[in-house]
Amino acid sequence: MKETEIDWGNLTFSYMPTDFNVRCTYKDGKWGEIEVSDSEYIPMHIAASCLHYGQESFEGLKAYRGKDGKVRVFRMEENAKRFIRSAEGIKMQPMPVELFCEMVRKVVKLNERFVPPYGTGASLYIRPFEIGISPRVGVKPADEYMVVMLVTPVGPYFKAGFKPTKVCMSREYDRVAPKGTGSIKVGGNYAASLVAGEKAHELGYSVMLYLDPKEKKYLDECGAANFFGVKNDTYITPASESILPSITNMSLRQVAEDLGMKVEPRHIPVEELGTFEEAGACGTAAVISPICKVVDLDNGTEYTFGSETEAGPWSTKLYNHLRGIQYGEIEDTHGWTEVIE
Ligand code: PLP
Ligand code: COI
Repeated sequence: MKETEIDWGNLTFSYMPTDFNVRCTYKDGKWGEIEVSDSEYIPMHIAASCLHYGQESFEGLKAYRGKDGKVRVFRMEENAKRFIRSAEGIKMQPMPVELFCEMVRKVVKLNERFVPPYGTGASLYIRPFEIGISPRVGVKPADEYMVVMLVTPVGPYFKAGFKPTKVCMSREYDRVAPKGTGSIKVGGNYAASLVAGEKAHELGYSVMLYLDPKEKKYLDECGAANFFGVKNDTYITPASESILPSITNMSLRQVAEDLGMKVEPRHIPVEELGTFEEAGACGTAAVISPICKVVDLDNGTEYTFGSETEAGPWSTKLYNHLRGIQYGEIEDTHGWTEVIE
C-alpha cells in the first residue's frame, strides 16, 4: 500500500501490512543473525511447542513521528527487560536486551514510511513476539525459539480515543491466577481474557475491569491496560502481583510526580472507587483512556467520575505531558526516548 493512500487521522488499532518484518532464531545454543523478511507468514512445524503448549510471549511499543520530523521510540529497554521476564516465566530462551533493541531499530527504519505524520495522533505499533518452535508432544520446553518483530500503523485502542469510556467488572471472571502468569506478557493470559472481554463488549462496555483473583476485594487491571484513580491531587494505582507492570503506568507515576502530584501504588479496595475524582486505563495501546463509569455487574453498583464527554483535569495534564515527550514537543528529561536514525 502506498503511504499516500493511508487515512492517517482515522486509523484504528488494527493490522495493516507494512514492508518488512525482522526475525531472529535461537538454535544450537545461540541467537543467529537478524533476518529481514517481506513475508507475512512463518514456516512452522505442526508440533511446535508454541502451538500446543502456549510457549509464546509478546511485547508492544510504539514509534512516534515528532514535531521535528524525527522518529522516536519510547523506553524500548524496558520492553526488552520485560520480554526477558516473560520468556523466563514460561521457560523460553530470553533474548538479550541489546539484540532486542537492535531488532526494534531495524524494523522501524525499514518501515519508516509507515510511521504516521506528526499531528495525526497515530503512531507505529511495534509488536515483537517469541515462540517455541521445536516439535514437542510431551509437555516440555522447546530448545529452539524464534523472535519476530512486525510493525503496523495504529490509531486509538479504545474507540473513544481520549474521550471517557465505560467499563464493567464482575467476580465471575479471572484473567489470571494469584501466583500465575499475570505479571508477564504471554499469549495465554489474553486467550483467558477473551470470554470476559467479549461479555463486556456485548453489554456495551469497552473493557472488563478485573479484581484481584485471590480475594476479589481489590482492583487489578483493566483488560489490556493498567488502572489508575485520582483524588486529592494523588495518582493511585494498584500494587498487585497478578497485573502486568505497565511501562506507561511506570512513566505516568514519574510524570505525576514531576507535575506535583502525590503517587500511591497500593491495594485499592473496590469501594474506594466511590471516592475517586478521576479514573483511567493506561498502556501503550490505550495511552490514557479516561473512565467515566464503572458498573459492578454483580450488584448493579455504578461508580461515576467527572464528565461523560471530557477527561478530568489531571488525566488531561498527564496525557498531554506523556504525549508531549513521545512526540518530541516536551524535553525528555528522563532519557525515555531514542531517535531512530
Ligand atoms: N496490562 C496488560 C494486561 C497489557 O497487555 C498491557 C499492554 O502492554 C498493559 C497492562 C500496559 O502495559 P504497557 O504500558 O507496558 O504497554
Ligand atoms: C499494548 O498496550 O501494547 C498491548 O499489548 C495491549 C493489547 C493490544 C494486547
